[in-house]
Amino acid sequence: METHIDQIKAEAVDELKAADDIEQIKSLSVKYLGRKGLVTLFLRNISQLPPDQRPAAGKQANIVKKALESAFETALAEISARKTDTGSDALDVSLPGRPACQGTLHPITHITRQICAIFGRMGFDIAEGPEIETDYYNFEALNIPKNHPARDMQDTFYVSDNIVLRTHTSPIQVHVMEQNAPPIRIVAPGKVYRCDSDLTHTPMFHQVEGLLVDEKVSFGDLKGVLQAFVHEIFDEQISLRFRPSFFPFTEPSAEVDILCVMCRGKGCKVCSNTGWLEVLGCGMVHPAVFENVGYDTSRFQGFAFGMGVERLAMLKYGINDLRMFFESDYRFLRQF
Ligand code: DAH
Repeated sequence: METHIDQIKAEAVDELKAADDIEQIKSLSVKYLGRKGLVTLFLRNISQLPPDQRPAAGKQANIVKKALESAFETALAEISARKTDTGSDALDVSLPGRPACQGTLHPITHITRQICAIFGRMGFDIAEGPEIETDYYNFEALNIPKNHPARDMQDTFYVSDNIVLRTHTSPIQVHVMEQNAPPIRIVAPGKVYRCDSDLTHTPMFHQVEGLLVDEKVSFGDLKGVLQAFVHEIFDEQISLRFRPSFFPFTEPSAEVDILCVMCRGKGCKVCSNTGWLEVLGCGMVHPAVFENVGYDTSRFQGFAFGMGVERLAMLKYGINDLRMFFESDYRFLRQF
């Protein structure tokens, strides 16, 4: 009897060796281990053996059953592994490679660097500051007291009562002046945050702040520097106009408009038919700001300015949808 089960096993192993597809292996498994399989029948018939042979035969038959189960399993696994190796998912080494896309600078990075380079040539250094600010640096030191209506100009993300996401890059002025004595010439690029989101506003955008402090600085110097900047970033033909405005940290304050780069002053959709585009805010640093950083207001004057980078980029590159900057569409980004 034992030799009979060993014979069954030897035949099964031989047949399995010859099988080379899943169907064949499955039918061998049925032939030997199925409900009417040879091993199954052998086990079922053990009760017919003389009692003294039953234990040894049962033991041997169970060993064979387990061995065949695992042999079929292994054979199936090997065949399916071989199948994926050579099947449709397989690597076709004869296909041409996919070209790796080369990254480009984001237009905002690109124009920020251009802005900084232009001011760099006029002797301005680059300064940076934290994006999470205290109320003091973002507002109070810039002459915007608590509960002052001027705070309404900037919808603020408050982290806590006293901590905000900076709403502009102007607080960098204060950090720089606290740490350095005049003369100062800096531009400060960075991200700013406002609780505002619609077609023309995003909760995060970029600004570049500028600050110059020295003896005998006049509004004329401010005009000259900004005119040189606008002519470099756009072109020599673009005229500027300074319009009186209000910022708590400058006095007098002005807004700078440039002749519409789309229609050259004729009036179009971009400039709302005015012929002019507002590009930045500026003014002479308010004495209260100087006092907050301990500068001698009888000796030093200064000017400051601030501009929105997205806005400048839109005008420079003729982009009419602010969302393009944030959508990471490679077809858009690769053009810069
Ligand atoms: N901080 C102002 C804003 O975000 C922009 C600005 C205006 C900055 C005038 C200045 C300035 O330095 O003089 O709206």
